[in-house]
Amino acid sequence: MVNLRRTTDAELAAICDLHEEAFGPAEGPEIAELVRGLCQDATAVPVLSLAAEVEGRIVGHVLFTAVRVRTPEQPAVAQILAPLAVLPKHQRTGVGGALIRAGLRQLTASGVELVFVLGDPDYYPRFGFRPARAFGLEAPHPIPAAHADAWMVQELTPGVLGRVQGTLQCADVLNQPQHW
Ligand SMILES: CC(C)(COP(=O)(O)OP(=O)(O)OC[C@H]1O[C@@H](n2cnc3c(N)ncnc32)[C@H](O)[C@@H]1OP(=O)(O)O)[C@@H](O)C(=O)NCCC(=O)NCCS
Repeated sequence: MVNLRRTTDAELAAICDLHEEAFGPAEGPEIAELVRGLCQDATAVPVLSLAAEVEGRIVGHVLFTAVRVRTPEQPAVAQILAPLAVLPKHQRTGVGGALIRAGLRQLTASGVELVFVLGDPDYYPRFGFRPARAFGLEAPHPIPAAHADAWMVQELTPGVLGRVQGTLQCADVLNQPQHW
């Protein structure tokens, strides 16, 4: 039984440890640092930080932070999903999917129109994400051509994709080239 809820500030260290374990020794420390930074970055607000608990223990976490599309037209209210992690013992049991769906529901309810992700193109399309460049939405830093389909978006409000085009501006901490 998975319980999904918002995290508290006091849980930040435990959540960083979770990312470090899930991503492993090569990527884990950088991702943990990203989470720590984003949770303290004023330019990332509003933040949606959700935990998945099993038997009272946090086994998964997802973070959504604010982004803006630099466009001369009326901007869209947008967020980016980064990062998502589930402890190895609990992977492939639906926890990651439950976190993504809960996040998308809450963002929809709070008026968010677009959600971006830079992630595995074999995983995220099942949750509604589609290649973002096809809609004229560029990442803050160039994505290598071999990974172009990893840059994805979905609209939570029908009709926003296609109306808004431009280059994304994300939170300062996420805007470091090594994250792209
Ligand atoms: C990627 C991750 C978040 C998925 O969470 P999860 O709880 O295991 O995923 P779910 O149980 O909701 O979905 C499982 C399904 O997604 C797919 N899937 C899971 N991880 C995948 C991956 N890394 N690549 C492609 N597909 C993946 C599989 O099809 C799996 O179904 P199967 O068991 O029938 O093969 C988790 O594996 C993880 O934390 N990995 C390490 C950290 C990471 O890479 N995060 C970044 C995600 S881009």
